[in-house]
Amino acid sequence: MKSYEALSAVYDALGTDIDYKGFADFYEASFRRAGLTPSLVLDLGCGTGNMTVELAKRGYDMIGVDGSAEMLSHAMTRKYEEELPSILLLQQDMCGFELYGTVGAVVSSLDCVNYLTEEGDLDRCFSLVHNYLDPGGIFLFDVNTPYKFKHVFGNNAYILENENCYCGWQNEYDEESGLCRFYLSIFEETEGGWQRSDEEQAERCYDRSTLTAALTRAGFTDIEFFGDTAHGAPTEKTERWFISAICKK
Ligand SMILES: C[S@@+](CC[C@H](N)C(=O)[O-])C[C@H]1O[C@@H](n2cnc3c(N)ncnc32)[C@H](O)[C@@H]1O
Repeated sequence: MKSYEALSAVYDALGTDIDYKGFADFYEASFRRAGLTPSLVLDLGCGTGNMTVELAKRGYDMIGVDGSAEMLSHAMTRKYEEELPSILLLQQDMCGFELYGTVGAVVSSLDCVNYLTEEGDLDRCFSLVHNYLDPGGIFLFDVNTPYKFKHVFGNNAYILENENCYCGWQNEYDEESGLCRFYLSIFEETEGGWQRSDEEQAERCYDRSTLTAALTRAGFTDIEFFGDTAHGAPTEKTERWFISAICKK
């Protein structure tokens, strides 16, 4: 997977405002709401391992799956720095992963599901999540909403910055196809001076009915959409849906 090759180096530096603890609180509150006490949890699209480590620190046995070797190498460093060697990290595709057995919960944070852009990807991913969940287990993920694709990403450009890096971010959103391309130019300060790398990423916009239908086809029930990590109802201007679904077997 080419995307995230360059971004991985600055991903954490540019994402310092992401509320991983808030996401983890939402997951734990969702477990309680569903009457579940999972011990083994899969973090699907675990990236640099922020969420994987946060949940491991809260006492869950964690598996992290991601397609990007670069993102996983940061996750690997993090797990040893945090002295959590039992975290299992696997380089696999979200639409074709294999685990050793089932898990009590699957979480997928920060719009990984929007990265599934090809026809059939949602079905492949959701049916694997269903396959590897215990009966009654829970799937929790979030996506960027159609509102965000249209009104926030649009065809806008912006700069993300931190002390030693910045990233020029240009969006190209085609509302008809639902595909949003991101053109990134990453500048990183190294010992040899500033280094530039460019990469392209794409996300697909999914509406509520498409997600609900795909989850239902995969065998999920009790599908709920929230507008925030406090289980609040979404509004028309919600930019991120937090979705909960129960695995029926
Ligand atoms: C926005 S990042 C989120 C990472 C992490 N969940 C977090 O909260 O920081 C999206 C991640 O999804 C991964 N990803 C995208 N498409 C994938 C696929 N088809 N299979 C596996 N990983 C994928 C990327 O490599 C990247 O690490």
